[in-house]
Amino acid sequence: MMTAMFRSPVVVYGLDASRKTGEYSVNFGKKALIVTDNNLDKIGLLDGIKRSLTDARVDFVIFDKVTTEPLMEYAEEGLKVFKKNNCDLLISVGGGSCMDTAKGISILASNPGRLPDFEGMNRVKNPGIPHVAIPTTAGTGSEVTPSAVIADSERNVKMLIMSPHLGTKIALVDPFLTVPMPQSITASTGMDALTHAIEGYISVKAHTITDTLNLHAIQLISENLPQAWADGTNIQARTNMMIGALETGMGFCNSSVALVHGMARPLGAYFHIPHGIANAALLPTVMEFTIWGNPRKYAKIAEAMGENTEGLSVMDSAYLAVEAVKRLADGLKIPPLRGLGISQDKFDKVVEQMSNDALVGGSAGFNPRKATPGEILELYRKAY
Ligand SMILES: [Fe+2]
Repeated sequence: MMTAMFRSPVVVYGLDASRKTGEYSVNFGKKALIVTDNNLDKIGLLDGIKRSLTDARVDFVIFDKVTTEPLMEYAEEGLKVFKKNNCDLLISVGGGSCMDTAKGISILASNPGRLPDFEGMNRVKNPGIPHVAIPTTAGTGSEVTPSAVIADSERNVKMLIMSPHLGTKIALVDPFLTVPMPQSITASTGMDALTHAIEGYISVKAHTITDTLNLHAIQLISENLPQAWADGTNIQARTNMMIGALETGMGFCNSSVALVHGMARPLGAYFHIPHGIANAALLPTVMEFTIWGNPRKYAKIAEAMGENTEGLSVMDSAYLAVEAVKRLADGLKIPPLRGLGISQDKFDKVVEQMSNDALVGGSAGFNPRKATPGEILELYRKAY
């Protein structure tokens, strides 16, 4: 076996983990900027977190301007609030947008330049601000990944920034925080997590530890996503979804995602559809294309998703994984791209550019079957 690397921040998980925010944050700073979206505080989701900070004598200021997409402007505005209030710690509470915005603030607070200067791998020179991440969705895995996706609306690009300096100090993973998620967000973030697990598992950079995490995550997510979607108050399903998203967060960030994520980023940038929906709409088509790159692993995915593969050939088993993913996406009422308000006209206009953009960022290169821009264009058309 060749050498492999595994990196992970400290993780505290379980019901009420977020009520330990003060206890853990006090080790990293005296005044926190809480980066969150404009709704979570209103519905009371931050109450326990704020109380625990007050109890631990950690002062805080709230920056709640983040919406569904992590725009570069939010990080720039958040940086001003961070500096104006002399903060020395970041606490993100929310989905991937909030956590990635906090990572953007962290970069800008410790490095001269604008965020596009740091796009790509290892371009952040200085360590960032200590960051405590508290996810409120079971999807992105950003609480444990040393990367951020931030939208540059001037260039219509979703920038992927990867650096060890983006790693969080601690992730507080509390399934109670995911209970208020509406069905649509449960579906999109859950399908994002499933895509991480499948892509992290079949990636050419995968190794024994990441395989263990990603394969178990595939099982947990496919078993529990339907139940968490059907009844958001099902705390067992919410807990298992949170653990599944966390496991694959630790798994895929050490093995990489692959072609689906490469193709989903341009879709999100041009059409502003939620990241998990873009993944879900592309996943079956790209799986079908990729199967010959590693049929044995796809057969294992089918088994993990509960398909009966007894007596079937490896190849027949592998194709069951595609069927299982299609069925799950259908059940969650995720439409194909055509049903997402993307007009044929606009799609035709940008599909060639998207096919080139899909190769930027590098994740497509970790697919076990390599795709040319022409093949990617065909895949977009097929998914449409
Ligand atoms: Fe993702």
